[in-house]
Amino acid sequence: MNYKIPVIPGDGIGPEIVAEGQKVLQAAAERHGFGLEWIPFDLGAEHYLRTGELVSEETLKELSGYRAIYLGAIGDPRVRPGVLEKGVLLAMRFYFDQYINLRPVKLLEGVWTPLKDKGPKDIDFVVVRENTEDFYVGQGGRARRGKSHAHLEVLRSIYQVKFGLDIESDSEEIGYQIGMVSKEGCRRVISYAFQMAASRENHVSSVDKANVLSDIYGFWREVFEDVAAGYPGVKTDFNFVDAITMWFVKNPEWFDVVVAPNMFGDIITDLGAMIQGGLGLAPGANLNPEGTSMFEPIHGSAPKYKGQNKINPIATIWAGALLLEHLGQKDAADDIIRAIEVNLRQGKVKTYDLGGSSTTSEVGDEISRLIRSG
Ligand code: IPM
Ligand code: MN
Repeated sequence: MNYKIPVIPGDGIGPEIVAEGQKVLQAAAERHGFGLEWIPFDLGAEHYLRTGELVSEETLKELSGYRAIYLGAIGDPRVRPGVLEKGVLLAMRFYFDQYINLRPVKLLEGVWTPLKDKGPKDIDFVVVRENTEDFYVGQGGRARRGKSHAHLEVLRSIYQVKFGLDIESDSEEIGYQIGMVSKEGCRRVISYAFQMAASRENHVSSVDKANVLSDIYGFWREVFEDVAAGYPGVKTDFNFVDAITMWFVKNPEWFDVVVAPNMFGDIITDLGAMIQGGLGLAPGANLNPEGTSMFEPIHGSAPKYKGQNKINPIATIWAGALLLEHLGQKDAADDIIRAIEVNLRQGKVKTYDLGGSSTTSEVGDEISRLIRSG
């Protein structure tokens, strides 16, 4: 078996961490008797600054011929904030309709957590973040005093929504942003969470802010209840987003599968990363189970560390394990996680964020060695 995998190293520290991920995946592939063929794609700041292009339709089409993409990070201080993030990263998530953003929050043995008296048994849940809707649909604008009109459009492969907005305002200027969720969009991600709970502890927690943003998140809640009715054996609860940040800190052991709309999912997974030992250890998977998925660390491009061989590659290596699991190579994925666990437990080869002084590539080498000798 030979897998062709597009790889987008991207910006900042992206190339350094992805190189270590490729190294480790290669070691796992050799051990398990399958091949990996990497197909590099040059996307991100350099490409944009050189060509003025974010990501072309042609590139997207080409990428859509693969099941899994390996991504480093996107974002660069030379480009105005949001341009690359929206124009490349979100463009890919939306184009491939990667409606699930899976973010495991798992404290591995040997890793320090800022939560007092909590250990690996307490911190082991997964956040299923909706990844295509909500305030991320990118529809909004500004209007000056007087009358104006705006056309807003959300185009997804499963639906199209058009808004025509008549604006009449006597404020000097307003800025606005439309948040939108659809029944289909909520249903598919919430169903995914329930299916996932069946292989875990049969508990799904919903995140919303239905007490205030009741139109959008009251609707989310209704769909959640609807889906939940089909899974009578699964325990459920509703959590307001502000409260769940408190529970993540106070009682992380309560959680099993947490399903959240896009923006709240974004926010709570940075907190999740921190309680599992930091951004250097938090992987993510953008999934379209029927299409092209994309695997990346949840941290950004950390431009100030670029080229220093200093950043922890484990989040990216772990994301690579999720990639192999997605391709059906579960044993190889488990081997990678096991090697990461051994590396962390031994605590000898570790980067600065974990209190060590090893380099990015030393950690990649060590995890590869542990796989080979495992
Ligand atoms: C993430 C990031 C992105 C997001 C940004 C860079 C667009 O914060 O993957 O969590 O908001 O989804
Ligand atoms: Mn984020």
